[in-house]
Parts: sequence; C-alpha cells; structure tokens
Amino acid sequence: MGWGRQMRVFLVALRVFVEYRVVQRREKWAKSTSDRNKLWKKAHERNAKRIHNAIVGLEGLWVKAGQYLSTRADVLPDPYIEVLRLLQDSLPPRSIKEVKATIKKELGKDPSELFAEFDTTPLATASIAQVHRARTKEGRDVVVKIQHQGIKDIILQDLKNARTIVQWVAWAEPDYDFAPVMDEWCNEVPKELNFKLEAENTKKVAKNLDYNNKEASAELSKSHVDVLVPEIVQATERVLIMVYMDGVRLNDVAKLKELGVDMQVLVESITRSYAHQIYVDGFFNADPHPGNFLVSKVPPFKPILLDFGLTKSLTFNKKQALAKMLLACAEGDYAALLSSFTELGLKLRMDMPEDAMQVTNFFFRRSIPGKESVEDIKKWTKENEDRRKRFQEKQKEEAEKGASLHRNPVDAFPGDIVFFMRVLNLLRGLSSMLGAKVVYLEVMRPFAETALFSGNVLSSGRMLETDNWIYKTPPHSSIETKLWELLLNLGRKEQILGVQVCAYKDGKVVLDTAGGVLGKFDPRPVQPDSLFSCFSVTKGITAGLVHWLADRGKLSLSDKVSTYWPEFAVNGKDNITVAHVLNHAAGLQNALTSDLKSDPLVMCNWDETLKKLAASTPESPPGAKQVYHALTFGWLCGGIIEKASGKKFQDLLEEAFVQPIGLAGEFYIGVPAGIEDRLASLSLDTEEVKTMKEVIEKQRAISSLKSNPVESFAEPSEMAMKQATPQNSLDGEDGDGMSTITALPVLFNTLFVRRAIIPAANGHFSARALARYYATLATAGAVPSASSSSEPRLGSHPQKPLEKKLDPLGKGSKKDGMKHQDRISKAAADIEAPKIADTLKSSNIYSNPKIHDAFLAAGEYSKLAYTDEKFGLGFRRITSGGSNLAEEVIGFGHSGVGGSTGFCYPGHNFSLAITLNKLSQGEVTAQIARLVTSELGLPCPAMYSSVGADRGPDMTGGAL
Ligand SMILES: *[C@@H]1O[C@H](CO)[C@@H](O)[C@H](O)[C@H]1NC(C)=O
Ligand SMILES: *[C@@H]1O[C@H](CO)[C@@H](O)[C@H](O)[C@H]1NC(C)=O
Repeated sequence: MGWGRQMRVFLVALRVFVEYRVVQRREKWAKSTSDRNKLWKKAHERNAKRIHNAIVGLEGLWVKAGQYLSTRADVLPDPYIEVLRLLQDSLPPRSIKEVKATIKKELGKDPSELFAEFDTTPLATASIAQVHRARTKEGRDVVVKIQHQGIKDIILQDLKNARTIVQWVAWAEPDYDFAPVMDEWCNEVPKELNFKLEAENTKKVAKNLDYNNKEASAELSKSHVDVLVPEIVQATERVLIMVYMDGVRLNDVAKLKELGVDMQVLVESITRSYAHQIYVDGFFNADPHPGNFLVSKVPPFKPILLDFGLTKSLTFNKKQALAKMLLACAEGDYAALLSSFTELGLKLRMDMPEDAMQVTNFFFRRSIPGKESVEDIKKWTKENEDRRKRFQEKQKEEAEKGASLHRNPVDAFPGDIVFFMRVLNLLRGLSSMLGAKVVYLEVMRPFAETALFSGNVLSSGRMLETDNWIYKTPPHSSIETKLWELLLNLGRKEQILGVQVCAYKDGKVVLDTAGGVLGKFDPRPVQPDSLFSCFSVTKGITAGLVHWLADRGKLSLSDKVSTYWPEFAVNGKDNITVAHVLNHAAGLQNALTSDLKSDPLVMCNWDETLKKLAASTPESPPGAKQVYHALTFGWLCGGIIEKASGKKFQDLLEEAFVQPIGLAGEFYIGVPAGIEDRLASLSLDTEEVKTMKEVIEKQRAISSLKSNPVESFAEPSEMAMKQATPQNSLDGEDGDGMSTITALPVLFNTLFVRRAIIPAANGHFSARALARYYATLATAGAVPSASSSSEPRLGSHPQKPLEKKLDPLGKGSKKDGMKHQDRISKAAADIEAPKIADTLKSSNIYSNPKIHDAFLAAGEYSKLAYTDEKFGLGFRRITSGGSNLAEEVIGFGHSGVGGSTGFCYPGHNFSLAITLNKLSQGEVTAQIARLVTSELGLPCPAMYSSVGADRGPDMTGGAL
C-alpha cells in the first residue's frame, strides 16, 4: 500500500508541475495582463481540483495537509483556497453499516439500543472520523464521533512516507531540513487516534478557560476569555460522545454576516482563548483550523472550540520562554529575545541576532485580509532585502570575513515552537479568511505578561527575599549583609530591577553583590558576571586610556589634537588640545547633533563619526568654557587614541586595561558576538519619569523658554522603536531631557548599538570589573593582587568569544559535518581564558606617580583645565561635600545616566562600582553609596550625600 500511495502523490505533483510549466511558456505569448491573469487563474483552478481529488482519494494525513493549506489565504492563490476548503467538511462519509459496527464494538451495543434517536446521515465527515447527531435516552442532544475503520494504519503509513519525503528534501536541499518538524508530527498525530485522550484534553481545556468558576487575574480581566467548549458525555478509543452545540461553521462567512457577527470581535476572542491556552495554561489545541470552530447562533456569538485531539502541553519553562519571546519582540529587547530562543532550544546563529529579531517580528505581525497580506509579505521581503544590502555595505569588512548573511538566523526548530508557530499561522489564516485585522503582539501580550510574571521573582505582590533575589555568594563582610537588606527594600519598592555592587578597600574585595533580574521581560537572575550598559561610566574608561597613552609618551595632554590627527585641524579647530577634549572644553558638544538627528544610527558607525568630527566646527573657542560633551567626548578621545597609538580602540582597551588588570570578558566598549546571554536589558523607572516630567514642565512654565511639548512618556511599547529613533531623543543642546531618557532603553537595548564603539556611552561592564578598574586607578595603577571570589571567576570568560569562529565559517556549515553550535563552543574553547595570575606581571599600569593629579587636573596639571568645575581631565571630581564651601576633592570617577557609577578615593585606597538596569535619576545609587561609605567610615560623595543633591550632567537625563 505504501508504495502505491507514494506513487499517486508523485504523479499528481508531476502533473501540477507540468501544468505550470506550460502556463509559463504560454504566458510569453499572452497579449495583455488580464490575459495572463486568466491563464494563471485557469491553471490554478485545474491544479487545485487535481490536488483536491487526489487528497479525497488518498484520505488520511493528506486531508490534514490539504485542510491546513486551505487556511492559508495569506499565501495561496484563491482557487486553491476555494477548492481545498471543501476538505474541511465534505469528505465522502463511510457507510452507516461501518459506523454501527464501530459503535457496537466500542460500546457493546447497537446505536438503536444506546440512543433514543440516531441520525444516520452524518453531520460532517473529517479525515479520521465522522460525526452523527443523536439523542440520549435521557433526552440530551449529543453528537457521536466515530473513527473511520482502518484509518489508523493509513495515517501511520502516511507519516512514514512523509518522513521519507522530508528526508529526500533534506538530502537534496540541506537548507530545507524539516526533519525536526516531522518528528514532532510523528509523535503527536497518533495521539489524535485515541478519543479517550481527546476527551480528557477537552475537559482540561474547558476547565482552564472557564471563567465562571475562577478568579481572573487583574490583568486578564480586561481581556476576558469568553468561549464555549462542549461537554463530554462518554469516550472510548474510537467513539466519542459530546453534548451537541448549535452553531454556525466558522467558514460559513455568508451565514455569519447574515447573523450580524462582528468578525473582528470574533477573531480576537478566538485569539485570546488561544493566548490563554498557550501562555497561561501551557496546554493548547495545536490544530486550530476553521473546521474546529463553531459560532453560537445568538448574540454575543461566542466561539465554540471543538476537537482537542491534537493538544500540546508546555513545561513551565517553555511557557515562560514563549512569553518572553513575545514580550521581547514587542519591546525590541534583543537580550531577552536571544535568551528566550536559548530556553526554547532554538539553535540561534549568534552572528546574526538582528535577523532573528526581524524574523520574530514578522512572525508576530498583525493579520490582514488575504490580498493585502500577499502584498505585505512582498513588501517585507523587499524591505528585508534592502536592509540587508545596507547592512552589508556598511559592514563590508565583516561580510568579507565570510559570514554569509543570507542564511536562516535559526539553525533548528524544536517541537514546542513548531506547534506554537503553526497555531499562530492557523490563527492568522483564519483571521485573514474572515477579513479581520489582529495585532497579535497586542492581543496576546496581557497573557504573555501573566505567564512571565507569575511564579517567579517578577510576579506582582511578590515577596522578595535574600534567597530568591540576591545571587548566592557568601557575604564578604557584615557590610554586605546590610547592603542586601537595603537592596531588597529597594527591590520591593520596584526601584531596582537588577543590580550589582562591588567595592575594594585596601586591595581587597569587601563586597561583591548581584541581585534582581536581567530585564523587565527577562527574569533570569543577575549574576556577578552579567553585563550592564553603563552609559557615561564609559567616559571614565576612555579617559583612562588617553592618560595611559600619555603615561607611555605616546601623546602629551597639552599637545594639539591635530598633532596626531591632522584632518582635525580645520574650521578653527587647530588649537584644540587633548586637555581641552578631556576637560569638556573643546566647544564641540553639538558637533554631531544634526547628523544624529538625520540618522541616529550614524553613532554606530565608528569611521564615519570620526570623519564627521574631524570636519566639524566648534561653537566656542577652545577652553572658553566647560560644557558637557555627552556623546562627542567619546569619539574625540577615541580618535586621539587611535591616531596617537596607531592601534584599534578595542585592541588598545584590551592591551591597556583588560589583560593587565584581569577583566577579560566583563569589560567592553562595544560587545562582541557570543556574550548575548549575559546582557542585562535596560528599562525605565516610570514613576520617576513622571515626577521628572512634572519638574521639567514646571521649570518650563517658569522660564517659558521652550514651548515644545515633552515627548511621549509612554513606556516603550510595540511602537517604541519607531518613536525612539532618536530624532527627538538625541536632541542636543541643553537637550530635552525627557524624550532622551524615555528613548534610551529601547535604543541602547538594540544589539546594533550595543555592538558599536561609542566610547562616551555604550560601555558594558560588570560591577566587579569596574570596581577592580577603579581600585587599580586608586593606587595610581597598582593592580590589586586578589580578585573577587564570586563565581564564575572574573576573567574566566574569553574576551572575544566568537573571533575565531567567524573566519573559517564559510558557507558550507552543514557540509563539513560540524554543527554550528559545536563550532562556537569549540572556538570559545580555543581561546584560552586568561588567568588573572598571568596578567599581574606588570604590577603597575601607570608609571607616573602623579597620575591622580593628571586625572583631576590638579598640581602641575591645573593649568591645563578648569579646576573649579565638575570635570577634571576626563574624570568627574568627587568631593566630600558638607557645608564647607571649599569642598575637598577626595576622589574621581564617572557616573552614567540611569544611575550606574564607578569611582575611587585614592587617599582611602577605596573603590566602588554600582550597575543598574532600571534607569533612575541617581537616588538608588545615592542610597547604596551612602550605606557603603558610612559603613566603611568614609566620606560620602557630595553628589550622593543627600536627596536631590546636584548630581551633574553625567547622571541626569539632560545628556547621556
Ligand atoms: C592599598 O592597599 C594595598 C593593600 O593593603 C597596599 O598594598 C597599598 O600600598 C595601598 N595603597 C595605598 C595608596 O594606600
Ligand atoms: C591658534 O593659535 C594661534 C597662536 O596663538 C593663533 O594665531 C591662531 O589664530 C589660532 N587659530 C585659531 C583657529 O584660533
């Protein structure tokens, strides 16, 4: 039987193929477009009929395939939809004799004995069973579903055949390996053949979706699920008896319209019930084709869900991962998206996560009526192509390394996601068929949130405890236990999402704490080696690099920039010195503002920004005043660094700091591929944003300087990325602080920005690496002998995990027999993780004993810069504050917008670093700094010493 069936399939495929070939030939001779269209329509009709007839003849699994195709109005030509739709309810029925025999065999009695009435004409016939109406002796209207005889063998045989076909395809065309999909089918389809399972599934789903008998969570009450599921009366393996429900078939569009059913409401209602099944219950009907729905005949026309033969259940973790995937997609949060992929078991090509985001976005795209949809896909494909082309041009260098940009960003799809995708596609098809437009990200979002925020640290009404919120490390000191208490309190008040704090005193780690979660939609715990985007904290590292070069005689602080960077000496910039740049006194604070306005992503293009800066014109003479250079500071220093050293910025960073201090893997300006799973995602403290908004509006009202309305304060949402393209966010000058800060998380969560070199703003550090850097600076360059003892050890991650991988990875990833993922791990293993002990040979990274004076523009360096302003030569002056007007400078460091900071007190041999992912105006940082300094008997930095202290431009929203 097997071969015969396979042969028939093959012959039909051949005839369809030939028909199209003929049309292709003839098309050339057609006179007009309408002639051509007619030609194609005829061909489609003929082929659709051929396929339909073949399917009716073949039965079994092929019917299922046909039914599936008939729901894809978004991809298939109309004639196919019309013809294949017939499969949904008009298969030739089996004889009543066979039906009676099955019932007798299963239930022991003839239908006439079992029922008061039994309608011998079937209500409907489907691929594996047919349904008859009946009335029980008790007078209940029921339907009896009877499995076709012999269907089990046919289906199992078909599955085998289909598997063979899939193997052929995979062999001929390795890019189309559907084997995992097939395996999943082979596991699931046989379950449909046991009606006892179906009965259990139906009961379970009915109970899960029954809102009359349970309290809906607050978030879900808005998006109430209101559907009907038939009650099960009796079930055996091949006969199923359910209560009859009167309804209109979903594909009877004319009838639905006649009844006045609002299709939009109907489809959204169905979508919600599926979102509930998937995200809340983790138990869903994996086969929502139109034949499996009815619509009740009276208002409010509730959907009736039928047929739970193919039901999929998800583990808690998979459910969470799916929820995270949707939310990450809605938020444009790459780190969370990638971690959801990992948790789902998707093997992601790590070198192209941007594509993964595009694909996921497309996957969740809103549904639209059939015709538009085809256009939509075309448009998307076109856009995608364009984007890729642009990307390739910009990244020629990387493209040349051989990483093909045209492959699927995902290597393999595991089963759970296959069914999830199928459900979403079927829902989309259904919505397309009924002409509704569903924004999936919106409709499904509340359910995904419920899933993600329940049963973990993020759940509302949570009780955060040290055990579940602080990453398990033994406390280094009694101070650390007190710190945990403070952090927990701030966490409970939702002022902290994720946090790391590390401090060194006298060359030893006195605390090293990690707590909270990696992101709003990423409930993985923050670990000591998690990487936080620290904004302007980065400037303290960039400045350190300039001083490092000066210390080695590669440049002089008093030299003109043009000494190293000749192109810079134009438009009145000839007299700008390195010291001017470090002191924020170059007059170039707005040099790139208009460029960034017209194309914000220009900031990700290193060479381009340097070129533009070299050609720019200052707005004031060098040294005229100190104005914070929020973004240009980084590229100015970066340009000087590269030109003076002749080395690449990141290479120099590694040579000067990462290796000697032992910071490998946790100290990046521009993150490499392969460390995505350690990235924390930024979000906003919305409460604080609101108060900030009020303050700013008040100031505006008073000064009435500016009248432009503050930009949208909505939390980053589906549209956030669009709104955030920072036309409005990088508004330079004194900057509209509000729009800046609301757009920052979205923009800086993208991998594109994370990967760029933006030495003023996109440093990614762990607090323990940052504290160690400042501990080294505190002692004028003596690297502390001991490192943090938290696990995994600082320095145990390779600094550039994927570097080796990119080279040999040509096109034939499948052909050389080595799986992509193995290749990555091998490449990672190839790069020996540097041992801290090895890196301590050069015990001092600066030779100048007066290097602190250089950082602060004190002593002999005071003539190079303003001595009474916030910034010295690249570092923020830290003063002890107090009531004394002549504030004493006790240290230096740099903070970033949102609250991350790193600083040290040389006189006290002390350094502190704090990293945060929920952006706030520094109050959280201040509380932590106050606790730590007071416990150690040290003065507190003035900017942190009180509520509402003047925190300076590096920490407030006015600039990065
Ligand atoms: C800092 O502490 C370490 C360890 O106690 C010590 O070796 C070093 O001399 C101290 N440095 C200063 C500047 O006090
Ligand atoms: C730079 O300094 C020199 C000498 O002081 C002066 O003659 C020149 O005009 C300055 N250039 C600019 C563009 O200000």
